[in-house]
Amino acid sequence: MENDIIFKPLQFRNLTVKNRVFRSSISGRWDNYDGSGTQARINWEEKFARGGVGAIITSFVPVAIRGRIMPNYATIHCDERIPFWRKVGETVHKYDCKFIVQLSHSGRQQDIGGVENLDKKALSSTSNTESFHGFLCQAMTRDEIQDTIQHFADGARRAREAGLDGVELHSANGYLFTQFLSSGINNRKDEYGGSLENRARFLLDVIRAIRKEVGTDFHLQFKISAIDYNNAVTFWDNPGNTLADSIQICQWAEEAGADGVHVSVGSLFPHPLNPIGGFPFDVITRTYDTMLSSGIYTTRNYLLFRYRLLNPIFNFLWNRVKKNLPPQAFSGHEVEDQEMRKLLEEHQGRNLLAAREIKKHVTIPVICTGGFQQASYIRKAIDDKYCDGVSIARPLIANNNLVHDFAVGKDLPDKPCTYCNKCLLNVIENPLGCYELARFDGDYEEMVQEVMSVFHPAQFETHKELSEVSVSHE
Ligand SMILES: Cc1cc2nc3c(=O)[nH]c(=O)nc-3n(C[C@H](O)[C@H](O)[C@H](O)COP(=O)(O)O)c2cc1C
Ligand code: SF4
Repeated sequence: MENDIIFKPLQFRNLTVKNRVFRSSISGRWDNYDGSGTQARINWEEKFARGGVGAIITSFVPVAIRGRIMPNYATIHCDERIPFWRKVGETVHKYDCKFIVQLSHSGRQQDIGGVENLDKKALSSTSNTESFHGFLCQAMTRDEIQDTIQHFADGARRAREAGLDGVELHSANGYLFTQFLSSGINNRKDEYGGSLENRARFLLDVIRAIRKEVGTDFHLQFKISAIDYNNAVTFWDNPGNTLADSIQICQWAEEAGADGVHVSVGSLFPHPLNPIGGFPFDVITRTYDTMLSSGIYTTRNYLLFRYRLLNPIFNFLWNRVKKNLPPQAFSGHEVEDQEMRKLLEEHQGRNLLAAREIKKHVTIPVICTGGFQQASYIRKAIDDKYCDGVSIARPLIANNNLVHDFAVGKDLPDKPCTYCNKCLLNVIENPLGCYELARFDGDYEEMVQEVMSVFHPAQFETHKELSEVSVSHE
């Protein structure tokens, strides 16, 4: 372990992380409808801290109720949330794990807006309807842009006041920042649209506003979709930003005061390339009904998911970009099981080539997300300077103790994540967890027990402790 790069600390300008594995953001509907936090979220985050990751990046944390993607995600939109986030941070810190809040705004990519947003359209850079689900939206006025910039700055201040270790701007995967950054989406005619410099203005304004609010010594990183592939599914759309565009944005963001960059892909979420893997129709048919009233194309999509005869049409649209993907950065390492070897080669390190190009053009550390769960592969990615650290989502849902497994010399966990994406497609309606029955040898009860374990200990068991925290900081 001593000479293992995975276990060497990663030094950012204002933050040291004990190893190179970050828990990537994974949103689950753990909290109260109004965005106040629950014990389940604390239990959820504690699982990963206990499992040995160096830092946890929270799930999507809205800086404004108007910018949520679904109800029941803990928000950071008001000062009353500070005691809760302090409690989560303190829990995670017991394991020498850092805690970074992902400051987020949905823009038009709002899966379920919630009652507070029913009477208004979502805000975006554009008034054009989102092209996959058909979410309606309206272009933000300049005043709304200024208010939103301040919402992000306030969110960062609250994270700092809660004693957390930093913030990440969710400027990837189709949410509000992407809606400004992407040439495939942003059709504004003012200083926030048009040229790349104008499209990047919103992100850079937010970075500067956060610096003004919290100073230069608080960790601030941003997530970016290195390539938009905005027409991956809707082939009639403009493809959006290229890698060269994103490299330029990363350089500007570094100059504006960012301490790290987290590389992802795709101008919508989910996207065929993120999280790459399966698209189980049996699961989406059970959960997508929750979103039927959210967009004007959701009924069309539901029919494509629901009727077997129509499934090939969706499969064709969803899978067509994968065929033209560039080759892998390097092949997987020796794995005897041929099926597993194939699975890993299809999914491992999908964003590594882009991360390496970005890394060549910035001086801040680069974290790469997408398909990491094999120690030898991660080691090589860092040793060969593709990135400085990796972030992991699904393989950590499947195996919370993955990093401890690496520490005792395992290259792969005993029951690896299969990238089936059943966790992802369940999350609209069901508790987040691993729903791959094969990993539980077909035992449904055991699988559900594991999913439900996040609700123990229950809120009432710790209620006294939580209220003490709230009172002491009022
Ligand atoms: C259920 C689920 C929820 C996710 N929620 C978020 C999110 O809130 N914010 C975000 O930036 N990425 C989110 N992601 C993407 C992951 O953070 C990660 O970048 C992606 O899944 C690729 O990593 P993996 O192959 O290790 O899963 C989510 C992924 C899953 C599966
Ligand atoms: S359901 Fe389980 S095996 Fe499938 S992608 Fe999610 S974590 Fe991995």
